[in-house]
Amino acid sequence: MANNKDNGTTYAVVGASGNTGRIVAEQLLASGKNVRAISRNADHLKALVDKGAEPFIASIEDKPALTKAFTGARAVYSMIPPNMAAVDRTSYIDKVGEALAGAIAEAHVPYVVNLSSMAANKDEQGFQGRMYEQEQRLNRLPDAINVVHLRPPMFMENFLASINAIKKAGVIAYPIKPDIAIPMIATQDIASEAARLLLDLNFSGKSAKTLLGQRDVSMAEAAKIIGRAINKDVRYVQVPYDEHIKTLVQAGIPLDVARTLTGLYRRMNEGTGIPLEKRTSENTTPTSFEQFAQKFAAIYNNGSSN
Ligand SMILES: NC(=O)c1ccc[n+]([C@@H]2O[C@H](COP(=O)([O-])OP(=O)(O)OC[C@H]3O[C@@H](n4cnc5c(N)ncnc54)[C@H](OP(=O)(O)O)[C@@H]3O)[C@@H](O)[C@H]2O)c1
Repeated sequence: MANNKDNGTTYAVVGASGNTGRIVAEQLLASGKNVRAISRNADHLKALVDKGAEPFIASIEDKPALTKAFTGARAVYSMIPPNMAAVDRTSYIDKVGEALAGAIAEAHVPYVVNLSSMAANKDEQGFQGRMYEQEQRLNRLPDAINVVHLRPPMFMENFLASINAIKKAGVIAYPIKPDIAIPMIATQDIASEAARLLLDLNFSGKSAKTLLGQRDVSMAEAAKIIGRAINKDVRYVQVPYDEHIKTLVQAGIPLDVARTLTGLYRRMNEGTGIPLEKRTSENTTPTSFEQFAQKFAAIYNNGSSN
């Protein structure tokens, strides 16, 4: 397959101030590429701009603005940012998904790496099913547009949301059973795979790639590893589904989003979740939970991993 890499290539990065987008942008910049970094907030982009990125302030819902951001780009790193505040999250995802796909088509971007989810499955209800729809939407783009969907499992960074509960009570609480083995991935591994694909540009057609993290980890094991890293006893507590929904709603998450998330955990417990691809060297990524726990400890202790 031809390698279409050329110098002076411009990349547009959606969610450039986020977990994955920031690292994608940094890795492209480090390889001498032009990066158009998209965010709603100039302050969030300051560190990337200092490294040479072109800031592009736009809302992900604004198709004309996205079209402008994507025009002239050889490739786009695309994602639908989480919006926990959206009352109707499925419509929000569809609206953003249409804006992204429409802008990619209008700007004739030849290459797209799309952050999807292992939960992107046609049989999934709620927003996980919508991630599948977004894959389909991008797959319907003209043949000249090559797309890879990255399908990662649960992010290790999700545990950062437990910092307050650990500080207050020494617990990590979810409805997931303590001992089931779950693939978990560090967001830097997703970003590195995205950056590799974006730099090589040797994919063609429409395809998907599952990423399973370094190994499967149970919630009880995750709590122990985090406890060791912060030098504190951290217990994992399995909470009832209804209690978890209540906690999420109290934290400002709309009820249907809370129910959808909790439904995913229920299916994990019941073994009826998405059938997993077998672990291979191709879908295994390098960062271990122990390494992530060092980053967790830095944020726990200092509020930042830098
Ligand atoms: N968490 C998991 O376990 C998991 C698992 C599988 C897949 N996923 C998927 O991963 C994706 C999240 O990736 P991530 O963690 O890298 O993202 P993230 O850290 O949550 O970052 C989201 C980015 O999007 C930007 N953004 C948010 N709303 C925007 C808007 N209206 N207009 C323009 N920009 C906006 C934010 O920038 P500003 O605030 O600077 O605008 C931020 O840079 C989601 O699609 C999720 O479904 C998550």
